[in-house]
Amino acid sequence: MSHTDDTRGYQTGFGNEFATEAVAGALPTGQNSPQRVEHGLYAEQLSGSAFTAPRHRNRRSWLYRMRPAAQHSPFTELSHATFHNRFNEAPATPNQMRWDPLPMPSQPTDFVDGLVTLGGNGGAEEQAGVGVHLYCANRSMQGRYFYNADGELLIVPQQGRLRIRTELGVVEVEPLEIAVVPRGVRFLVELPDGEARGYVAENFGAPLHLPDLGPIGANGLAHPRDFLTPVAAYEDLEGDFALVAKFQGALWSARIDHSPLDVVAWHGNYAPYKYDLRRFNTIGSIAVDHPDPSIFTVLTSASDTPGTANMDFAIFPPRWLVAEHTFRPPYFHRNVASEFMGLIDGAYDAKQGGFVPGGSSLHNCMSGHGPDAASFEKASNADVSRPDHIVGTMAFMFETRKVIRPTRQALDSPSLQGNYYECWRGLKKHFTPPSA
Ligand SMILES: [Fe+2]
Repeated sequence: MSHTDDTRGYQTGFGNEFATEAVAGALPTGQNSPQRVEHGLYAEQLSGSAFTAPRHRNRRSWLYRMRPAAQHSPFTELSHATFHNRFNEAPATPNQMRWDPLPMPSQPTDFVDGLVTLGGNGGAEEQAGVGVHLYCANRSMQGRYFYNADGELLIVPQQGRLRIRTELGVVEVEPLEIAVVPRGVRFLVELPDGEARGYVAENFGAPLHLPDLGPIGANGLAHPRDFLTPVAAYEDLEGDFALVAKFQGALWSARIDHSPLDVVAWHGNYAPYKYDLRRFNTIGSIAVDHPDPSIFTVLTSASDTPGTANMDFAIFPPRWLVAEHTFRPPYFHRNVASEFMGLIDGAYDAKQGGFVPGGSSLHNCMSGHGPDAASFEKASNADVSRPDHIVGTMAFMFETRKVIRPTRQALDSPSLQGNYYECWRGLKKHFTPPSA
């Protein structure tokens, strides 16, 4: 086996026209598909948008590789007990729901085997919606590679680093960073720390992109230069391997006699990337009240309706709370969107307990939620003449346009907290009508 050095770095920017070669001279000059590519490579285009998508939404890359992606044996269906897109197998519920972290597996389990679907909406066929999954793994992927034809994967590590070897280079992420693997890109996941746990949004809709900033201006929230896309890195490896595909909600597996990570050079704007959530330029009120939580959006997937996202990825990072005579935690609310939350680190400022790192919550369309009774009492009586510094925390939200329908396994999970609703039971009625 030979391969390039994994650690040669990243290219900066979001959706740029990148160009990278692991072997000098492998990238053609002046054209994409020359009659003969240097070094005996094949040219192959990987398109992530319609050919005719508007230029600012058009995504494609040209890959220069040892063998075309077409070269493998036929796929056969592969069963997977916990990773799927069956979002209609149980009634969608308006109940507020919360789960404890899933336990680490007791058997050797790699990233793909360790995926567990909590819920979702839409699907690959309608090219809209989101699958919400957790992963718990204790073994690197060995002898098999994966790609998802149904959607791009937004991976949110909560415990343990991931080394994601993709066709287009190596992305290493740790908790408090995220990685995005585009639809169709082949990869494997290694676990440098032995164990790993986290969250995955499977975005069936338009690729995630940076939100428009409106009156915020040219700067703020996630900055394009903080997004990192890997340089080209390849494996030159032959053997008896499996290529696992997710296709129309099911998994398929094909034999492949070489590593599909054999791309020596590539250029284009369709590629995996990572982002460090600690670099988010958090914006909030410096007077009274709160902006809507859309101010915390890192990435968004547009729907066909302007201003209404297929999904948003938002975070609740460390920040100063300075709003005067204001109830400072997230307020009570109901929402036309549906909200799946996870906690990467620390505590969440609207809950005094029960929502721990690795845990999850789901508040669907118009289901009331907000601070628990203890948080309400504390914040209502806090001294808001002084700033609060929220530190050591990172919560996130997958917010979706459509209702997130929990899977049967999510509803039956021992991790589901049957008493979650009780966190609001202690909220007292304080109303006293004025006496006549
Ligand atoms: Fe909410």
